[in-house]
Amino acid sequence: MLTTEQVEQFEALGAVTIDTPLTRQELADAREAYDRLFPPADSEAVRQRSRHGRTADFFDAPLLNIIQHPFFEEVSRQVLNADEITFNNIALSKTFPRPDEEFSFQQHTDVQYSLADLDGRPKQMICSFFLWLAEVNEKRAPLMYRPRSHRQIAAWRSANPKLAGVAPRVEGVLFENLPELPFENPEPIVASAGQVSVLTTALIHGPSSNVDTEPRYACHLSFKPKGFKLSLPAGKHEARDNYVEALKNYLRPDRLHLVDEA
Ligand SMILES: [Fe+2]
Repeated sequence: MLTTEQVEQFEALGAVTIDTPLTRQELADAREAYDRLFPPADSEAVRQRSRHGRTADFFDAPLLNIIQHPFFEEVSRQVLNADEITFNNIALSKTFPRPDEEFSFQQHTDVQYSLADLDGRPKQMICSFFLWLAEVNEKRAPLMYRPRSHRQIAAWRSANPKLAGVAPRVEGVLFENLPELPFENPEPIVASAGQVSVLTTALIHGPSSNVDTEPRYACHLSFKPKGFKLSLPAGKHEARDNYVEALKNYLRPDRLHLVDEA
């Protein structure tokens, strides 16, 4: 699992990239599932838009294998200081190359916490995994992030009487709408195929363009301490809850506790 230094990096910087035990075959099978789920490179859809995503609407065996792989549960347990972990959500994205374009990126937070949330036992937060099914280099749509920004925002919230103690919820906030704090510069997350970035989307982060020549395959899956509730934007709860319910018919019997939210 993670070393003490890696856990400390997750807590301080908000993100740490580590190896996974996924095999080359498991990665290839997952990429093949993407190629079935997303439009082909020469399609009109891809000419129109380079980044394609899907959230919680697929049951392909190689993707179920990732959801229920014990590794992600174990790492979540470790970084969240939680005895019991449940699955939160999964989203896939495939970003097709645009080698002639200029590199650009977006920045936002998806959720904001207080320092008490981040330092709780268990932590009152979601653990996100960005699993890289193929290599990500600096040109291939690396996820951009500002190290430590989750804690800077948490400290700012904790010091604000109107925000201290407010339950965290998923709500995208663009960089220009965030408080002006002395944030570090954005950095790209690069990784080799099969590595995973363990992070919090309370960091200032965002997708970048793919100015390389190969597609980027990213799998964002997330877990939470059992019993932790995080409200989602209107209209998002039903699809997510239905997917978790449906997973009960697909996961192995010994992995069903991941979708037992009671
Ligand atoms: Fe995000």
